[in-house]
Amino acid sequence: MKHLITIADLSADEVWQILNLARELKEEWRKGGNKPILKGKTLGMIFQKPSLRTRVSFEMGMIHLGGQALYLSPDEIKLGARESVPDVARVLSRYVDGIMARVFAHNDIQELAAYSRVPVINGLSDYSHPCQALADIFTIWEKRGKLKGVKLAYVGDGNNVATSLLFAATKVGMNIALASPAGYELDDDVVKLGQEFAARSGSEIELVRDPAAAVRGAEVIYTDVWTSMGQEEETEKRLKVFPPYQVNAALVAQARPEVMVMHCLPAHRGQEITDQVADGPNSVLFDQAENRLHAQKAILALLLGYD
Ligand code: CP
Ligand code: NVA
Repeated sequence: MKHLITIADLSADEVWQILNLARELKEEWRKGGNKPILKGKTLGMIFQKPSLRTRVSFEMGMIHLGGQALYLSPDEIKLGARESVPDVARVLSRYVDGIMARVFAHNDIQELAAYSRVPVINGLSDYSHPCQALADIFTIWEKRGKLKGVKLAYVGDGNNVATSLLFAATKVGMNIALASPAGYELDDDVVKLGQEFAARSGSEIELVRDPAAAVRGAEVIYTDVWTSMGQEEETEKRLKVFPPYQVNAALVAQARPEVMVMHCLPAHRGQEITDQVADGPNSVLFDQAENRLHAQKAILALLLGYD
């Protein structure tokens, strides 16, 4: 592993390496603190979009491991506008030991990786959100004790989060059902990749229109916002299409009684998820958010920990 750009690039062994190390680091942290395995290391964090979880969990992750992180706001670097992406990568990678970037165009993160001398981590692009999905399957593994054969139902927009969840699930043999409205499904090439991984791991993929069909027998229900960052001008149109895809008590009642409800957050409460569900007994939203910290510490240790 040199960079983390998409889970599609990882082998199942690499995914498990991250999950196992995340578990170890979480345990160590709970017992009083992590060893400073990244002492003297620095992470440059480029943001083209807002963030709470990604920014804070990466920064705290570096601090917990003895290193430091540098926040570079959207106005500071102006990636690709003030300076070309290759030049930003060439310069920044002379100063820091790793780069984490949240970008609009996925091509920008690929280009950063191509021109950087140090590891590059995708902190969300319009195509994927690999750190999120790794933290998510870590959460499921922690709570269920296994991943193989566990069914996750994703209800909503076939977006970056859905893409990474499909890749993560099919790498580790989870079953995944996705229910999206017409015109908002996952891209065909994403589905094709997921099917290739599923053929290797034994995962089953269901692509359906009806949310109730997706959640039948599910152990996890997952949703995300209807309008992602960068799509704000489509908000009104999407608000008309997506209401049947709301994760509410009636939908949760159609899954297994012990179903876990997940959301990458931030949530638009009252739209894709109701308060009753987000704050209800099946919700694991905040354990899931915490696990960003632990999963990413594993990623940082694996990418930046060895010279
Ligand atoms: N889930 C997630 O990536 O949250 P932020 O946008 O707050 O980083
Ligand atoms: N799909 C959302 C995820 C935010 C963490 C977005 O891209 O805005």
